[in-house]
Amino acid sequence: MIRAIYPGSFDPVTLGHLDIIKRASQTVNELIVGVLNNGGKSPMFTVEERVEILKEVTKDLPNVKIMAFSGLLADFAKETESKFIVRGLRAISDFDYELQMAQTNRKLNPNMDTMFLATSLDYSYLSSSTVKEVASFDGDISEFVPEIVVEKVREKVRERKLQKKNG
Ligand code: PNS
Repeated sequence: MIRAIYPGSFDPVTLGHLDIIKRASQTVNELIVGVLNNGGKSPMFTVEERVEILKEVTKDLPNVKIMAFSGLLADFAKETESKFIVRGLRAISDFDYELQMAQTNRKLNPNMDTMFLATSLDYSYLSSSTVKEVASFDGDISEFVPEIVVEKVREKVRERKLQKKNG
């Protein structure tokens, strides 16, 4: 039984994330998508919302499980008896940070390894931050995120603008 974790903020999940989820789920018996619940950041979507969205967009992938986690990824891997961490690499600029994280995680939990998947060319420019940036200026994000996420992001942008206006 080989179990892996694909961890991230997923704020929001993009088509690039979904592509990695689909490909990684074909290489292991079970893939846990670990949604980081990090109190320090101020995400667009709550962790519960991100988990719900991910459940919806992966509902046709039977060996994919969505779980929130907080604290260290190395500990979450121990708790869930996961052998691998999966990360997507978009460009060389991702590499320094990802290598440092993989090596730190292996120091913390020597029983696990990080597996890197090269992001598909179609999505190598894509990130959750750029999706939010484009949406904040009412740009079209339909080529960046799953269909159900488009309206959810627009709603959040509207809410934020209203909040700002009303102080
Ligand atoms: O999608 P992201 O935001 O690039 O994902 C980053 C994530 C969640 C993989 C990373 O921040 C993480 O693992 N956070 C949990 C705390 C931890 O274990 N940090 C790594 C020690 S170097």
